[in-house]
Amino acid sequence: MEEQGLSRRLTETGDREFARFIRRSFALSSGLSREALGKPAIGIVSTASDLNTCHREMPALVAAVKRGVWQAGGLPLEVPAISLGEVYLHPTSMLYRNLLSMDVEALLAAQPLDGAVLAGGCDKTVPGLLMGAASAGVPSVLVVTGPMLAGSLRGERVGACTDCRRFWARYRRGEASAEDLAEVEGQLAPTAGTCAVMGTASTMACLAEALGVMLPGGASPPAVTAERLRCAEAAGAAAVRAAREGLTPQKVLTRGAFDNALRALLAIGGSTNAVIHLAAIAGRVGIRVDLDRLDALGRETPLLVDLKPTGEGYMEDFHAAGGMPVVLSELKPWLYLGALTVSGRTLGETLDPAYRWPAWQRAIRRAEDPLQPGEALVVLKGTLAPDGALLKRSAASPGLLERTGRATVFDSLEDLAARVDREDLDVRPDDFLVLRNAGPLGGPGMPEAGYLPIPRKLAGVKDMVRISDARMSGTAFGTVVLHVAPEAAAGGPLALVRSGDGIELSVRRRALNLLVPEDELARRRAEAASRPRRELERRGYLRLYSERVQQAPLGADFDFLRHESLQGG
Ligand code: FES
Repeated sequence: MEEQGLSRRLTETGDREFARFIRRSFALSSGLSREALGKPAIGIVSTASDLNTCHREMPALVAAVKRGVWQAGGLPLEVPAISLGEVYLHPTSMLYRNLLSMDVEALLAAQPLDGAVLAGGCDKTVPGLLMGAASAGVPSVLVVTGPMLAGSLRGERVGACTDCRRFWARYRRGEASAEDLAEVEGQLAPTAGTCAVMGTASTMACLAEALGVMLPGGASPPAVTAERLRCAEAAGAAAVRAAREGLTPQKVLTRGAFDNALRALLAIGGSTNAVIHLAAIAGRVGIRVDLDRLDALGRETPLLVDLKPTGEGYMEDFHAAGGMPVVLSELKPWLYLGALTVSGRTLGETLDPAYRWPAWQRAIRRAEDPLQPGEALVVLKGTLAPDGALLKRSAASPGLLERTGRATVFDSLEDLAARVDREDLDVRPDDFLVLRNAGPLGGPGMPEAGYLPIPRKLAGVKDMVRISDARMSGTAFGTVVLHVAPEAAAGGPLALVRSGDGIELSVRRRALNLLVPEDELARRRAEAASRPRRELERRGYLRLYSERVQQAPLGADFDFLRHESLQGG
């Protein structure tokens, strides 16, 4: 039988007794008693760094987790992981999500830990932590730093980063001055915590609750509140229980749990990035989260949450309204209630049997009176996206969803930056802006570039159809078709589009078609094949990334990190 705590996973010396002796000697150098050192060891895997300002309150959070672990009879041990601060990584944080997951897997699988609390918050940290813990198979409970509070500008509430984009668009249209921008800069991120809207960070926190890897009510308490610290304390205690009961991620991350998470994503109108992250997490436990399933669930799952970027409120409003326990209670008829959670209870058992919809609030609607009856996210397929593309319908302009347009193509991010604001750009308001070579491989790292700026010469135009193999920030909005697969750099048809081509978009028919005759496409394909291939990175992690990353529908994970049962497809 495997031992517990620090006696586990001994350093190999060829003499187990010696290895035990030497480990005891070094463990005692911590200053802790033998009694303390004999308790179940709980790693606190934190993604804090000074270059991750969303995590500014992490020291207090970790201290609270430690309290909870001690109180429940465990031994808390802080084991920091690499940090991924969304706005501090070049070219994009997504390039490093898989590296974080490998770091977490190694921390948990190689060290003498019986369980873990995963402490993250910023966009890529939550999926990176969950992917790593799932692969390590160590009982783990997630806690997040929590969202920021909104700021205030001349009486108007503002918050990162939906309002960043709104003010930037105003500035580009000449409606705001540099002084106005400087003033708003100080208010967009006014407290510690993750972005104040239903962006990727908050979406992933909410989905973690629906997945059952976080304790009920843990997604939304703001970062600066006492409630946030109590969540952390409870997570510490829960991790000790999960370790004692052998509640591994494999027991929690089931097909039913992923369906619950997809339902929750649709109901909160969450970030499109979550689709990629859920596919990656599921892939680690041998489950396929496919786009067809998302589209099918989307047709019957009501949109309930009225927050920016699709609606009005901020995360503090969502929390005050009751947060995910209210959303999940409203969704009850659609959920798999038997899914086990890290609380040791099923999802159904964690929901309040005396639940009543809080009628006084406006952030969360009742299921019988939704913001939209369904289809917050839709999956498009067709000759331009044989393996699928995603559109956040709840953030799109209704008048742009059934159209045929003329393509204005940008070949790369550099090309976009060089030409989008030129006076001689041949573009009309009803064109479709197309960006390629911005996918998992081509980006590289699938940057959040799908929200292409409206060309400056079209000042006054608020939305256009934009199509790319990139991602979009969860805080953005507009008629933006994302994650086109296969991406251009992997030989997808997106590589063949030329400015002036016709493209058909029909959300009703779920269609995204390139209106170019097949013989012309064959000619362009042959021409593309004769061009020299883009050189891959030569060394280090970036080489590993460019050789092994997969397409968006497979979560942009590395092929060898997916569960053995899924490798090769
Ligand atoms: Fe960290 Fe938005 S930048 S959550």
